Amino acid sequence: MKIDKIAVLTSGGDGQGMNTVINILVRIASLRETKIFGVLNGYRGLYNDEFVELKNSMVENISSLGGTILKTARFEEFKNDAVVEKSAQNLKNREIDALIVIGGDGSYKGGKALRDKGINVILIPGTIDNDLRYTHKCLGFDTAVNNASKYIENVKQTMSSLNRGVVFEVMGRYCGDIALYSAVSTACDILAIPEKPITEEELIEKVNYCVKNKNKAPTIVIAEKMFDVREIAMKLTEKTGVDFKYSIVGYIQRGGAPSVEDKSLAMQYAVRAMELVNDGIFNRAVGMKNNKVFDEDIDVALNAEYDFNYDLLNLFYLLNYKKD
Ligand code: F6P
Repeated sequence: MKIDKIAVLTSGGDGQGMNTVINILVRIASLRETKIFGVLNGYRGLYNDEFVELKNSMVENISSLGGTILKTARFEEFKNDAVVEKSAQNLKNREIDALIVIGGDGSYKGGKALRDKGINVILIPGTIDNDLRYTHKCLGFDTAVNNASKYIENVKQTMSSLNRGVVFEVMGRYCGDIALYSAVSTACDILAIPEKPITEEELIEKVNYCVKNKNKAPTIVIAEKMFDVREIAMKLTEKTGVDFKYSIVGYIQRGGAPSVEDKSLAMQYAVRAMELVNDGIFNRAVGMKNNKVFDEDIDVALNAEYDFNYDLLNLFYLLNYKKD
């Protein structure tokens, strides 16, 4: 099959490394004399037929930029069959041979819906949440953890100087990866993640344990949606006698230049995606396991079992068993 025209879109929350992928896709397409179009504003733009032809000159300096030059959107309407149908028709009208989607879980479901309408789709995992289960690494995750860790370190220093405890809320939607990795890297004391929920009473108990072991400024990392951090900080102050502050790490996690790890991941994903397109192999999701790039059928990828890093979680518990 001769591939003449392809398109790429970014969807859902942006993740660092998306622009790196776009850069590589455009460069490879140009070498192969394949036309490549960017779809603006994710699936919303696909529905509204917002296409722009991408040229090397347009992507020259984007590799190290956070965000996505194509823009993205939350577009719940894409769950509606008529919306998917019209979007697929837009691709067919433009005679696009394949669509590359960079995004997370919701974007993957959108890709699957387009596949069911006869569109050739390749999916690249891009979400700071790292919640696509078939792959160990999603674009943006490493940078988000680095950003969160730097933030946590800074706040910890001032809190500890005043013997204050602090509760951090990090992102991740329903996945505890950002919380776990940033808590380990910043030597925080207590962790609350969806994969290992903890009650309010247990939190109080753990803080008391820290205090008993001469840690006057315990640090807690909480994955978003687990607790209301403001309320929990107040309750901990009341019940433990330690002055607790709270700090929502927030969007700083999703911004800024991609880390070297994310850029290298992005390059490998983009190259694999273009290999698949070139070989006429479609409806695959690319991923990384044990430092090897692979691709998987979309349905298999979406139904994969959760491969949470329990070894790292156990290491976290081991390190926090006792502090002198
Ligand atoms: O999916 C990425 C993410 O940053 C999640 O961690 C967070 O729950 C969500 O997006 C926030 O979404 P929005 O930017 O649309 O408020």
